[in-house]
Amino acid sequence: MILVVGNKGMLGQELMALFGSAARGVDVGEIDITDLVSVQRVLTTLKPRVVVNAAAYTDVDGCESNSELALQVNGEGVAHLAMISKEIDAKLVQVSTDYVFDGRKGSPYQEDDAPAPLSVYGESKLAGEMNTCFNPNHLIVRTQWLYGHAGKNFVETMLKLAAERDTLTVVDDQIGSPTWTRDLALAIKALIDKDCRGTYHAANAGVTSWNGFAKEIFRLAGLKVEVAPMTTEELGRPAARPLYSTLDCGKLSADTGFSPQPWQDALQRYLELRQPN
Ligand SMILES: NC(=O)c1ccc[n+]([C@@H]2O[C@H](COP(=O)([O-])OP(=O)(O)OC[C@H]3O[C@@H](n4cnc5c(N)ncnc54)[C@H](OP(=O)(O)O)[C@@H]3O)[C@@H](O)[C@H]2O)c1
Repeated sequence: MILVVGNKGMLGQELMALFGSAARGVDVGEIDITDLVSVQRVLTTLKPRVVVNAAAYTDVDGCESNSELALQVNGEGVAHLAMISKEIDAKLVQVSTDYVFDGRKGSPYQEDDAPAPLSVYGESKLAGEMNTCFNPNHLIVRTQWLYGHAGKNFVETMLKLAAERDTLTVVDDQIGSPTWTRDLALAIKALIDKDCRGTYHAANAGVTSWNGFAKEIFRLAGLKVEVAPMTTEELGRPAARPLYSTLDCGKLSADTGFSPQPWQDALQRYLELRQPN
């Protein structure tokens, strides 16, 4: 059995849908990953073969003012999952982020590039990556710019704003790859099926800015909205973001044979399947 921790989150719900009856999910209320006793109770009772950790404190700006909670959930929580999954002889799959990088490399990041997080969220996720080593049978899957059917995300925010305004201003100096949770879930499944270990990057193919992403959302949705540019500095969010954090996914393709589709194709499919709120 595959245990999805954080099964009520955006990625967690997608993983549950993909794994179907092979999966069992737990989230807040049934498990608190910051509590070792809680993790021990759930994992030793359910005895999964694989634990996929999709639970995290994901409010990037909120982490700046709640650094203790960020480190507890994203750092120590992963240590607990790693220690107990090792005890029950299960594999641990930890989902991580491009925000472990500073974005100054100027070309796509490879798995062994040196991390240098710019934010508390990035630091806490890096701590989580390091803590996976308590279980040698681990997999770290870094991804970025996620959207999915079950969560608050950029696509849904843009579509909501488009119903209220004719013009939007969106940052155009952060470059990355918008990634559909369904394609990330397929990548995670491919890595588990091949029993891969170590660190992998998984994101939809191709790159754009948030501004370019917004324009493509409106184009595909047939909405007439003007998307004006602005800089990250002008937006002035509490947490610093990497400006160029594209992930090289060549290792994923080489080791599993699975290559995530171009981000525009993924977005089109997402919009086709979307149930309007
Ligand atoms: N979203 C992105 O753009 C993005 C980009 C790169 C990487 N990632 C990574 O991808 C993974 C999934 O992200 P997501 O956006 O799907 O996350 P999400 O929607 O925020 O879901 C996270 C889930 O974890 C739960 N959780 C929080 N604290 C917990 C705790 N102490 N014990 C147990 N469960 C807890 C949350 O419950 P509550 O809602 O009740 O707190 C929520 O159900 C995360 O590791 C994230 O860091 C996300």
